[in-house]
Amino acid sequence: MGTTIPLPSEGIVLGIETSCDETSAAVLRGSELASVIISSQLFHSKYGGVIPELASRAHLKTIIPVIEEALAQANVSVKELTAVAATNTPGLMGALLVGVNTAKGLALSLGIPLIGVHHIEAHIFSALLEAEKPELPFLALVVSGGHTMLVIVKAVGVYTVIGKTLDDAAGEAFDKVGKMLGLGYPAGPVVDRISKTGNPNFMRFPRPMIYETSYDFSFSGIKTSVLYYLRDHPEVITTHLNDVAASFQQAVVDVLVTKTIRAAKEFSIRDIVCVGGVSANTALRAALSEEASKTGRRFLTTRPMLSTDNAAMIAMLGALKLEQGLTDTLALSSQARSPLSTIQ
Ligand SMILES: Nc1ncnc2c1ncn2[C@@H]1O[C@H](COP(=O)(O)OP(=O)(O)OP(=O)(O)O)[C@@H](O)[C@H]1O
Ligand SMILES: [Mg+2]
Repeated sequence: MGTTIPLPSEGIVLGIETSCDETSAAVLRGSELASVIISSQLFHSKYGGVIPELASRAHLKTIIPVIEEALAQANVSVKELTAVAATNTPGLMGALLVGVNTAKGLALSLGIPLIGVHHIEAHIFSALLEAEKPELPFLALVVSGGHTMLVIVKAVGVYTVIGKTLDDAAGEAFDKVGKMLGLGYPAGPVVDRISKTGNPNFMRFPRPMIYETSYDFSFSGIKTSVLYYLRDHPEVITTHLNDVAASFQQAVVDVLVTKTIRAAKEFSIRDIVCVGGVSANTALRAALSEEASKTGRRFLTTRPMLSTDNAAMIAMLGALKLEQGLTDTLALSSQARSPLSTIQ
């Protein structure tokens, strides 16, 4: 049996997330999610990607109304807050600064602790927002727009990264292939949806590094293979769009699931947690769940709405850090980059 993670039992923590293109605030009461508001900056889609300066300006406009709405939905007054947590790394610098400075203002004026939170570490603990919780040690497959890694989580703050992508992140591959298929940005959710009526065996795209002993990943080869296939068979965009999407998705899912299950076996870990935007993917969830149960393991994740960026996970990790006395001063800085391996 694993060890239960000690959950925050009291206090009302406000979480703030502004690292990329979602402005989000959430209220956590003890370890129960009381509210979460996510305002997505949809206007970036017409540029085919996030424009950093526009993201910062949009965060500035929406952060206060989003916090007010989160407090109202939780039926909590600002004076009842016992701590405030904000993403301070990694992310777009201007965007991070909006959330961190708002959190500093609240901490200073209310006289409550401030906690800076690592965005990827917070994705990992998004699994604790659900009723069925992982036990330690667990294996986390982090699959998001900017990251793909396998992490052994031994305790809050104690991690071993056993593998990561050498090039594109899984979400990036979904977005780039989706763009080639004319599905807009971000394309992950659309690829997921149309793949449901597609044939995953229509075309066999490569499964890079699937049987290599290392736990690293590489997704740019799959993307290039789709590119060449579409160049040579442009007609499939109209005749077999769903089949090509499903075939691409199957290649990514096969690699992720095969390596994750192998790692769980090698390190004798029972609980497998999948988090980050791509963990919302229906095929990935189904395959991980099936393969985990075949070997007597548990597959855990969070609800799809909390797979992508949100402040509920920031409040959760903030509360867990607060339990450990890990608070920050008003000198808390924002950093565009900081690998998870540096947190220990
Ligand atoms: N159902 C889905 N299937 C596949 N991919 C998905 C799905 N839903 C979202 N995604 C992908 O998830 C990514 C966004 O995830 P997330 O919000 O966690 O990433 P990010 O915050 O941009 O990156 P990071 O967390 O690495 O900084 C996008 O690439 C999007 O296409
Ligand atoms: Mg994210």
